Amino acid sequence: MMYPYQINTIEQYYQDYKHSIEEPELFWANIANHFLWHKKWDEVLEWNFTEPRVEWFKGARLNITENCIDRHLDSIGNQPAIIWEPNDPQDSSRIITYNQLYNQVCRVSQVLTNLGVKKGDRVCIYMGMVPELAFAVLACARIGAIHSVIFGGFSAQSIADRLADAQAEFIITCDGAYRGAKDIPLKSVIDDALTGNTTVKKVLVYTRTRIPVSMINGRDVWWEDEMEHAELNNAVHFQATSMDAEDPLFILYTSGSTGKPKGVVHTQAGYMLWANYTFINVFQYKPGQIHFCTADIGWITGHSYVLYGPLSAGATTVMFEGVPTWPDAGRFWDIVDKYNVNILYTAPTAIRSLMGFGLAPLQGKDLSSLNVLGSVGEPINIEAWQWFNKNIGKGNCPIVDTWWQTETGGIMISNLAGVTPHKPAYATLPLPGVLPVLVDEQGKELQGNSVNGNLCIKQSWPATIRTTYRDHERCRTNYFAAYPNKYFTGDGAMRDELGNYRITGRVDDVLNVSGHRIGTAEVENAINMHSGVVESAVVGYPHDIKGQGIYAYVILEDKGHEAELMRQNIIQTVVRIIGPIAKPDKIQFVSGLPKTRSGKIMRRILRKIAEGETSNLGDTTTLLDPGVVDEIKDGAKLV
Ligand code: WT7
Repeated sequence: MMYPYQINTIEQYYQDYKHSIEEPELFWANIANHFLWHKKWDEVLEWNFTEPRVEWFKGARLNITENCIDRHLDSIGNQPAIIWEPNDPQDSSRIITYNQLYNQVCRVSQVLTNLGVKKGDRVCIYMGMVPELAFAVLACARIGAIHSVIFGGFSAQSIADRLADAQAEFIITCDGAYRGAKDIPLKSVIDDALTGNTTVKKVLVYTRTRIPVSMINGRDVWWEDEMEHAELNNAVHFQATSMDAEDPLFILYTSGSTGKPKGVVHTQAGYMLWANYTFINVFQYKPGQIHFCTADIGWITGHSYVLYGPLSAGATTVMFEGVPTWPDAGRFWDIVDKYNVNILYTAPTAIRSLMGFGLAPLQGKDLSSLNVLGSVGEPINIEAWQWFNKNIGKGNCPIVDTWWQTETGGIMISNLAGVTPHKPAYATLPLPGVLPVLVDEQGKELQGNSVNGNLCIKQSWPATIRTTYRDHERCRTNYFAAYPNKYFTGDGAMRDELGNYRITGRVDDVLNVSGHRIGTAEVENAINMHSGVVESAVVGYPHDIKGQGIYAYVILEDKGHEAELMRQNIIQTVVRIIGPIAKPDKIQFVSGLPKTRSGKIMRRILRKIAEGETSNLGDTTTLLDPGVVDEIKDGAKLV
């Protein structure tokens, strides 16, 4: 497969960028022409950011899986689509060619159809990182069902909330999942999530760990049995459903500044183009190369750069079931060595955690196949950047620092590997189609360079968030109302004298813990569920490995309890309500919170104390009870 729209020089980048902004319709139509359509579009783009309403390739019909699989079969059917590396390096790996991927996806599509899954149905997927997860996602897309993948680190309660919000009718899960030394009982978590659920009709269970599970008669069925039946039905070819360009492809839940996660909706054609275009250009993928994105498919990074981006480009994508530090901290390097990985895309938190193990885990690992390194999820600090560059890239690999969000579907601001220059700690330049602006608090656009402001996007790109599921108003108020006619990212950024962007972090009450987005309000809600808690306030603080840690200030009803036990109880409550990913790192018991006379918690003060700052707390005269600040300051020393 060739990529006529791959940018090869910096001059071409500037030229394409200009073209994409001045004539977006022409620019994207030229690219869209390289895809497989059942019917081409009547119109390339219609959009306004006030409702918001965004429609790309209106009137066109297609199926994304034909673009990810079928169209490659003649040319590269026998080449690996997915290389799967198991959690335990002693177990065998699996290599799935495009031909095999086609067969598997067709069969799973038949299985799902046999279970009653139809176009438009919501299918929740809660699986470990096994190839069957990829088959399941793609089978949904082939049928036209809307997949909603939930990361394995979420609790039964979180799943229940998402199932209810999405009104999901089907679940695909595993008995269990291996992650490092842990064995996560996925099906059992699903069983808990289903207590009281009224929408789910069928649960399809793939066997991975062979832990005992309870299969409910009439509801739960085994993947293996169903696959056998599908084969008996001779489901070699499964006709892909013809989808409208603007039909939803998936829902992915993400945290915001309110207590409730939002179901971000992406649609068929625009998302497909964006995942493909950004993959090919940012990583400068060349046919035959091995791409390894370490993200879990439960996050948008896994959707776009383990699955849809690479597969739509006919690439070979590595899917890793395990964790970077088990059985030892050389796991990523073993994988790079074993499969001659060319592109390694990972998160700063993983780099920082591996840095802590020193250079010993790199001993004897041949990393010379690497051409391109990538970073995503949070700002990459200079130390991590340099370590990555020196010890992994051996000074020879461009590092792409890719800024984007669940809502943007794919990479928005990044250097293009080896084509546009990298600059440590900078995401650098916007991709063609992306028009970023910085605004001040009043919404005034900041002109020129060397300015700092809130990052907005002023023009629709193909994978613009379309809506938040079943609540369009929420989408509008969250993203499109803060600044008229602009998409507000929630991030702060600065622009240097060359127009490079440096993302400085969230400006709303959203934390970034190990590259995962967690709303402070969500954690507070969870803590407040504990019967002994009167009130709580959660802020982030700098954490050496996680980027941000979770710091909770908690007022207890009865101070007589043993503090350590209460701490454990509260952590347990958060694990129950949200999941292990939202565990507070620090809990400080306080007798009051710094509030203004109108009752608003002054988080600025709490953030500073959590950061270890004790002197410059700013103006505290407007506080209802300024005395509480001294108490909190003193208490913080003991946390
Ligand atoms: C938030 C989005 C995008 C996939 C992974 C996270 C932060 C993401 C970078 C980067 C600085 C970054 C932002 C953004 N972020 N990439 N390269 N430099 N910050 O997706 O869970 O939707 O989180 O992650 O704060 O808003 P997400």
